[in-house]
Amino acid sequence: MTDYAIDTHQLTRRFGQRETVKRIDLKVPKREIYGFLGPNGAGKTTTIRMLLGLIRASSGDIRILGKDLNKNRMEILKDVGSLVESPSYYAHLSGYKNLKIVTLMHGIPESRINEVLQWVRLEQAAHRPVKGYSLGMKQRLGIAMALITKPKLLILDEPTNGLDPSGIQEIRELITRLPRDFDITVLLSSHLLSEIEQVATYVGIINHGELIFQGPLQELTERSRPYVWMEIDRPMEAAAALNDNGWDAEPDAATGQLRTSVTGRKESAEMIRYLVGRRHDVYRVTEKKKTLEEIFLELTGQEQSL
Ligand SMILES: Nc1ncnc2c1ncn2[C@@H]1O[C@H](COP(=O)(O)OP(=O)(O)O)[C@@H](O)[C@H]1O
Ligand SMILES: [Mg+2]
Repeated sequence: MTDYAIDTHQLTRRFGQRETVKRIDLKVPKREIYGFLGPNGAGKTTTIRMLLGLIRASSGDIRILGKDLNKNRMEILKDVGSLVESPSYYAHLSGYKNLKIVTLMHGIPESRINEVLQWVRLEQAAHRPVKGYSLGMKQRLGIAMALITKPKLLILDEPTNGLDPSGIQEIRELITRLPRDFDITVLLSSHLLSEIEQVATYVGIINHGELIFQGPLQELTERSRPYVWMEIDRPMEAAAALNDNGWDAEPDAATGQLRTSVTGRKESAEMIRYLVGRRHDVYRVTEKKKTLEEIFLELTGQEQSL
């Protein structure tokens, strides 16, 4: 049995008649950075709230760090740090004092405060009131508050939402270092593919409450094998003729032109010669690589904000 930090079985949440999360089997292997990706409204926050015991599941099971969440909630949540939507802190107090409160609540030595402040690079601002922090600094304080208890699992819901590019970059660097520096598992949600692509090692894609892909990031990027796009007259007729002769070819969805997996020079030359022989004019031949956006569109079958 694989060792999962999060392991759900047929996890479902309904609001009234509407199913917001639909029988998902989330498998988050330990020490990975799991990117939980999906457009706005897909069900990411609802799922995360169930994982943290903030709302109940309508049906299904949740195991976190090897234990049933229903039966061991308090024990499990001691080992889980989280940042869901905006962090909760006392705005009139300094970052240091906010962290001090967390250490007092959890019986953590005060020396740990400077450790985490340094780690999220807030030493300079430590004694200023949080209300004067930038959004990025507030998010980093939120991460510090989540990390100070030395969790084994860290759950971050859209931690870069609303940040400017440099703020995004800082959070991204912090997250990337987490498994190495703290030996923990991270679940990170985002509606931006570019975000996930740059930090995650493992990916789950949720769309309309359904988990439509789950696997190593590599598996997703492998789907972006190169193909050849050809601009040609009578593309449908050309595709049919190529198929009849055992070539892989189909009209390209976006342009109506020809698309083929034939990418070798020799084979391409043969294919073009064949098409010209059938009196097709070949105007242009281009090698292309599917972007992750295109792969996502294929998976979801629709245009999304990713
Ligand atoms: N408390 C609630 N009551 C009713 N509907 C809700 C509630 N929370 C979330 N939803 C609905 O569930 C869907 C998914 O929301 P959410 O989990 O926040 O998506 P995401 O985080 O992926 O953007 C949305 O259509 C949202 O309106
Ligand atoms: Mg959300």
